[in-house]
Amino acid sequence: MKVVLGPASVELAERVSVSMGCISVPVVLRVFPDGESYVRLEKGDVLSGEDVVVIQTTCPPMQDGKLFQLAFMVDAVKRAGACRVTAVVPYLAYSRQDKLFLSGEGISVETVVNMLMAIGVDSLVTVNIHSEHVLSKFSFPVRSVSAISLLADYFVARGYRGAYALAPDKGAMYIAKEAQGVLGGGVGYLSKVRDRYTGQTVQSGEGLNVEGETVIIFDDIISTGGTIVGAVEILKDLGAKHVFAACVHPLLIGDAAKRMLDAGVEEIVGTDSIPGPYSKVSLSPLISKILKVA
Ligand code: R5P
Repeated sequence: MKVVLGPASVELAERVSVSMGCISVPVVLRVFPDGESYVRLEKGDVLSGEDVVVIQTTCPPMQDGKLFQLAFMVDAVKRAGACRVTAVVPYLAYSRQDKLFLSGEGISVETVVNMLMAIGVDSLVTVNIHSEHVLSKFSFPVRSVSAISLLADYFVARGYRGAYALAPDKGAMYIAKEAQGVLGGGVGYLSKVRDRYTGQTVQSGEGLNVEGETVIIFDDIISTGGTIVGAVEILKDLGAKHVFAACVHPLLIGDAAKRMLDAGVEEIVGTDSIPGPYSKVSLSPLISKILKVA
């Protein structure tokens, strides 16, 4: 197996290739003045007849550009004679548009995955896809692995065994339960209702008992930080002693991190699904494990 170091995930891909003892294939990336991307595999000649893994996240900024870079790398890998291509896309752009919320919409995540399949990807691995129900819709293997226990391990290693695992909405309760399995404390969720036209949300902590607790909010994605800021305000009103925020995909758009810290979050912990200052947990062990059994 050979690992192609997608320009958006170089460090993670290097970690995976070292942990698997595989040859890594660097990629030259140029972005032209008009915004178009150019990619070239540096060791294209070693790929003939090989199983090749291309690791490239598709987070903002320029998620469309990163998607096209991924597509160009897959095309190059195929042209170099690879027999099988697995795309590892830790953050899969557009995964939140996973059903028709309003008439006239499309299902963007299906378009993205179908596009990758059409280019020649034989299987796709992603991490904590927003809704797992989309996984069964494709005619090639699409798997989502969960990094929640790695995030929970981070907190256990820092002495927070027994902390309360909170989901910021009911849909994320399966995530909080997974974290609870590691932390061993309480578990619960806030209610969150989103207006489909304006995107505005209303949160409530009705029935939640977190007085005196250390609460870790677990979510798949933190984008603007609005969900976490709203949650912290409710948790503080309910008497929570400490509040932490953990997520798999720390998009952290604009001043999201500052807003959360100002609201009282003691620490933000994300994974290197999206490289950045809060990407404290590496997905490398998880991805290496799934590739070994693939
Ligand atoms: C929504 O269902 C997701 O799981 C996240 O809760 C959401 O994307 C977070 O967005 P924001 O940080 O902008 O509130």
